[in-house]
Amino acid sequence: MMRETKGFKELVRLTRAVVFLFFLSLVLILATYLLHVNPSLPESSHEEPEVKAKEVIPVWKAPDFSSVPGTREGKVIQYGRELITHTSSFIGPLGSVSLKANGMNCQNCHLEAGTKPFGNNFGSVASTYPKFRTRSGKEESIEKRVNDCIQRSLNGDAIDSLSKEMRAIVAYIKWVGKDIKKGELAEGSGLLKIKWLNRAANKKAGRKLYLQKCQVCHGNSGEGQRLTSNSNYIYPPLSGDHTFTTAAGLYRISNFSKYIHANMPHGATYDNPILSEEEAWDIAAYVLSLPRPVKEFQGDWPILKTKPIDHPFGPFADNFTEEQHKIGPFEPIEKFYKELNK
Ligand code: HEC
Ligand code: HEC
Repeated sequence: MMRETKGFKELVRLTRAVVFLFFLSLVLILATYLLHVNPSLPESSHEEPEVKAKEVIPVWKAPDFSSVPGTREGKVIQYGRELITHTSSFIGPLGSVSLKANGMNCQNCHLEAGTKPFGNNFGSVASTYPKFRTRSGKEESIEKRVNDCIQRSLNGDAIDSLSKEMRAIVAYIKWVGKDIKKGELAEGSGLLKIKWLNRAANKKAGRKLYLQKCQVCHGNSGEGQRLTSNSNYIYPPLSGDHTFTTAAGLYRISNFSKYIHANMPHGATYDNPILSEEEAWDIAAYVLSLPRPVKEFQGDWPILKTKPIDHPFGPFADNFTEEQHKIGPFEPIEKFYKELNK
């Protein structure tokens, strides 16, 4: 009996110890978990605050190009894509269809055949055109908008709306945007919004950055690269006779900065940019100060106060200098127009 009681007590003590250890480990596990999910609890509070993950934008995805059928209609779309990616082989100084363009490809600026998120893609073109544009003060068709880029960005002559090439380009652009409902915008179409710089952009700083990050592909003075002086560009020019003109959309510093922030150096993406926004503004100021073809269109911006504040040429509906409209600071100009349009 004595022995049994002793054995029983032993058992009770053992059980207590096990139960105690069990609860202790539970508490420890709970504490580790809490610290893990919320590292700002005691102890770690002296650590650097965590960088907040960049907001994830649910971007639109273009339809799968391999799904285009081999029908007559499908072939038109395929030719359209070919014209976007290898424009200069058809329309350019070495073109098989027209010689009247500078040698750039649409894809140089509308990346991945106009499908890359925030790579100036065509996602929302079919759903929003025809649309009213303040630059012309008119309602514009897709054909008119394409010719705008041929004249201003490719420094060429407008092509006939009924030509095989224009029909193919429009068919392709419509196919790219076919899944977006009329009047709606594809998430991630066009260019990524970035903040205005709170100072004037700095060309000198931009030049230094350019030499470090862009020169290797685009050349020492932005001349681009081709294998021989009589072949198409491998790396498109940012300056000189073969690049976009002063009337092009990319000649506005905000457009240029947005484009390079999300896409350059080649391989950068909107959610994995290489240049900071500030670097993008400074490089833009430098590149846009390099020589390029001058082109003017009478009749642009018929209503002065609808001119974008970084439109680089007067007349303006304000008294800021042309230089400030080119490189900023833009906040005072923005404020002026907010008051004016109240
Ligand atoms: C040098 C760069 C550049 C080249 C080359 C270029 N574009 Fe553009 N394109 C732009 C920019 C920048 C915009 C947007 C302009 C703006 O928002 O003011 C644009 C806008 C457009 C739009 C309207 C997009 C929209 O969502 O409203 C279409 C369509 C277009 N381009 C077609 C073309 C075609 C077709 C070609 C080739 C024939 C071409 N572009 C060549 C820079 C370029
Ligand atoms: C690794 C090579 C490479 C580097 C580095 C690079 N780019 Fe590009 N860039 C390209 C290529 C290739 C294209 C054309 C893309 C296409 O056609 O698919 C391009 C297109 C462009 C365009 C539009 C077309 C044009 O000629 O105007 C601009 C603007 C541009 N790059 C600016 C820059 C700037 C600014 C930098 C430095 C921050 C830079 N790039 C760095 C390869 C590069």
